[in-house]
Amino acid sequence: MNKVKSIVAASLVIVSGLASCDSGNTRRTPGHVYAPDMTYSRAYDAYTANPNFADSMTSRLPVEGTIARGHQLPDHLKEGDTNAYKTFTTSLRFNEEEMKEGGRLYNIYCGICHGTALDGQGPLFASGKFASMPANFKDAKYLHMSVGQMYAAIKYGKNMMGSYASQLDQKQRWLVIAHIKKTQAGSGGDAFTFGATATPATDTGAHTGDPMAVKSDTTHVAAPVAVNTAPKPHKAAGHKKPAHRRNRR
Ligand code: HEC
Repeated sequence: MNKVKSIVAASLVIVSGLASCDSGNTRRTPGHVYAPDMTYSRAYDAYTANPNFADSMTSRLPVEGTIARGHQLPDHLKEGDTNAYKTFTTSLRFNEEEMKEGGRLYNIYCGICHGTALDGQGPLFASGKFASMPANFKDAKYLHMSVGQMYAAIKYGKNMMGSYASQLDQKQRWLVIAHIKKTQAGSGGDAFTFGATATPATDTGAHTGDPMAVKSDTTHVAAPVAVNTAPKPHKAAGHKKPAHRRNRR
């Protein structure tokens, strides 16, 4: 008798368990709602149609001219404004390492046409595959060219030369120009003025030194950089975590 009872009890449990799995009847409404404003969002969900905007999109683009934190302000140089080209310049000054980077970028992006020796005899032109003679930076015509004019050539291109604006950011453009100017200074060009007087060894890259660049927000941008590069205090002190805690992080 006991056996029958327990079989009945077990089957009741199984049946009621199965019945509660009826997903076809899931309730989507919470029944009585205490605070409807909290239960039913009045905000438009992302990717849903929105009657408040002409394009009926809920997800909006950032306001025009928005600059992401840590990014540079535009340089405001306008294509064709040749008067501005002549006076456009930067307050950036580069240390030796940065100058090396300028040379590296030049060889990647410019040397193919202008030549690694800056003589306009890059392999693309010398091989005859590129018909237009690239500027010979050792030529009198270019020795004293203003840096703004060079910047404009990189940003907008010049005749057969395309724009390099998408490959080189503002600082990189100046690095390349500094490389050209330094080499020119050794070949009868103007005195080189891009060199850093004091080596900014602590430069974390968080700022560009350009007055047009976004001022780095020390509390939010520079701080994490400093934290990452600083030696961890407990490591510096030679302290090790106890063995059983080492795998915690
Ligand atoms: C595909 C070949 C090519 C490449 C790559 C190239 N240039 Fe040029 N560049 C030219 C040609 C051709 C001219 C001559 C344009 C003219 O005056 O008709 C020129 C002219 C210039 C001038 C003179 C602009 C002026 O106002 O007269 C500068 C400065 C210059 N280039 C810089 C650069 C820099 C910096 C790079 C690398 C970021 C570069 N070029 C990459 C082909 C090239």
